[in-house]
Amino acid sequence: MRLAHFSDIHVTAQRLGWRSSDWFNKRLTGWVNLRYFGRGRRFAETDRIVQALMQEVRTRRPDHVIFSGDATALGFEEEMTRASRLVIDPIQHGPGGMAVPGNHDTYTEDVAGQGFFERHFAPWQIGTRLSEATYPFAQRVGPIWLIGVNSSTGNFWPWDAAGSVGPEQLQRLETLLKNLEPGPRILVIHHPMSLPDGSPEDRWHGLRDLAALVRVAANGGVCLALHGHHHRAYHLGRCALAPFPAICAGSATESRNWSYGEYEIVGRLLRAIRRRYSPETGSFEDCESFELELTDSDGPPGRSDRERR
Ligand SMILES: [Fe+2]
Ligand SMILES: [Fe+2]
Repeated sequence: MRLAHFSDIHVTAQRLGWRSSDWFNKRLTGWVNLRYFGRGRRFAETDRIVQALMQEVRTRRPDHVIFSGDATALGFEEEMTRASRLVIDPIQHGPGGMAVPGNHDTYTEDVAGQGFFERHFAPWQIGTRLSEATYPFAQRVGPIWLIGVNSSTGNFWPWDAAGSVGPEQLQRLETLLKNLEPGPRILVIHHPMSLPDGSPEDRWHGLRDLAALVRVAANGGVCLALHGHHHRAYHLGRCALAPFPAICAGSATESRNWSYGEYEIVGRLLRAIRRRYSPETGSFEDCESFELELTDSDGPPGRSDRERR
């Protein structure tokens, strides 16, 4: 079972589709940051790198592709259209995918309600659901369950990149994890469980309801979390904040951080290779490898277990 995991590509567009209300929300400061304070330079090669990444997928043929959010820079639909064309179109006849939004994809309170991400990444959001609600959803990949959760909320303050899952989604997650057939459950979410050293995130960058999410996930048999949000990749085993390991994919396209992860899962062992973009060759090459032991659980005794007995 081989998974390719990438995140935080932050695609933008020439014509963003500004509306007058955007000059009075955090998009203005975000745009100034992008245009004048170096963020635009750090993501200058984004389109080219995403094209190289999708060529990788075509060549290396993973069983499934996972995207953990931040498709765009400022959450404009024009950016979302370009991002999904760059990501999904080149591999539409290849492996299936899972995608969850990042905080940049729900940039403001207004954008969060528009459903741009869900519309443009719909092919990668096909899965098992409890109700009409988009999140959470589950995809079966071989013996594994991937569980997509939305942690991205529209935030008001320019410096607020925090997220939350919310009580209703947590309730649905609890039931979904209980109802799924047995099999390792892997949580796919944008926000991290902790910082690289296992310590808590800053309140303006982390998950506001992390403790509740971790409790539901751990009780539901989650054995690994895959996320993004931090642009430098890292991984850690279980820590004080979460009793399961976590891998941050980092940004696939930000200058110098540009990498993604390829994970092979055999039983409870995950073998990872991090592949880094080389601007000289215009392609990716191995830069790091590591192993993680997944938490030993196939999920709680749920409906399907009882049915089999
Ligand atoms: Fe990001
Ligand atoms: Fe983010």
